[in-house]
Amino acid sequence: MTRGKFITLEGIDGAGKSTHCAWLAAVLRERKHDVCMTREPGGTELGEKLRQILLDRSQAMHLDTEALLMFAARREHIDKVIAPALARGSWVICDRFTDATFAYQGGGRGVDSRRLEILEQWVQGGLQPDLTLLFDLPPEVGRRRASKIRHPDRFEQEHEAFFQRVRQGYLQRALEAQARIRVIDASRDIEQIQQELAMIAQELCR
Ligand code: ADP
Ligand code: TYD
Repeated sequence: MTRGKFITLEGIDGAGKSTHCAWLAAVLRERKHDVCMTREPGGTELGEKLRQILLDRSQAMHLDTEALLMFAARREHIDKVIAPALARGSWVICDRFTDATFAYQGGGRGVDSRRLEILEQWVQGGLQPDLTLLFDLPPEVGRRRASKIRHPDRFEQEHEAFFQRVRQGYLQRALEAQARIRVIDASRDIEQIQQELAMIAQELCR
C-alpha cells in the first residue's frame, strides 16, 4: 500500500483555510483519492475537548501551558487519525498543524522556538507534511472576513499587533522550509486562489 500524502493548510484567522480545505478535498476525491479531512487543535475526541479549553475566552493560561496543550492534542491526533490514515493510503488534509504553533505560540506569544522544536521532535519524530499551503494576507482583512461569520474566540480576540507577529512567524517558517511550504496570496478572490490550487492539485496527483 502506497502511503497517502499529508497536506496542511495554514494562515491567520479568516485567511480562508476552512473554505479551501473543503474545496481541495472535493477536488482530490474527484480524482479518486480517499481523503481524510481533519483539523487542529482537535480531530479526535480528546483533541476536541482540548480545543474547547484552548479557545475558551474565560480560560486564561500560561503561554507554556497553551503550547503544551497544542502538542498534547497533536500527539493524539497523529496516533489516532493522521498516521493510520496515511498508512492505509488515504490523503490527509489538515486545517492547521505544527506551523501554527510556531506562528501563534512562538511568533504571537513569544515562546522560544527552540522549546517548540524539542516538542515537535518529541511528538512527531520524523513526521512532517508533504506540502503546506500558507494562506497569507494582512491581518485586518482576515479579521474583517472572520468577524462576519463568528464570535471571536480566545485567539481571535487578540489585537492586531499579535496577528502581525503571527503572520511574520508563518513567513519566517516558510523561509526556513521553502521546499515544503507554499505561500499563497490569500487577499485575492476565492476563484483566483482556487485556480492556483487546481494547478497545485494537478502537480500533486502526477
Ligand atoms: P479560516 O478557516 O482561515 O478562518 P474561512 O475559510 O472560515 O477562514 O473564511 C472566513 C470567511 O471569509 C468565510 O466567510 C469565507 O467565505 C470568506 N472568504 C474566504 N476566502 C475568501 C476570499 N478569498 N475572499 C473573500 N472572502 C473569503
Ligand atoms: P481554527 O479554528 O483553525 O481557526 P480559524 O478557523 O479561526 O482560522 O483554530 C483555532 C485557533 O487555534 C486559531 O486562532 C489558531 C489557534 N492555534 C494555535 O494558536 N496554535 C496551534 O498550534 C493551532 C493548531 C491553532
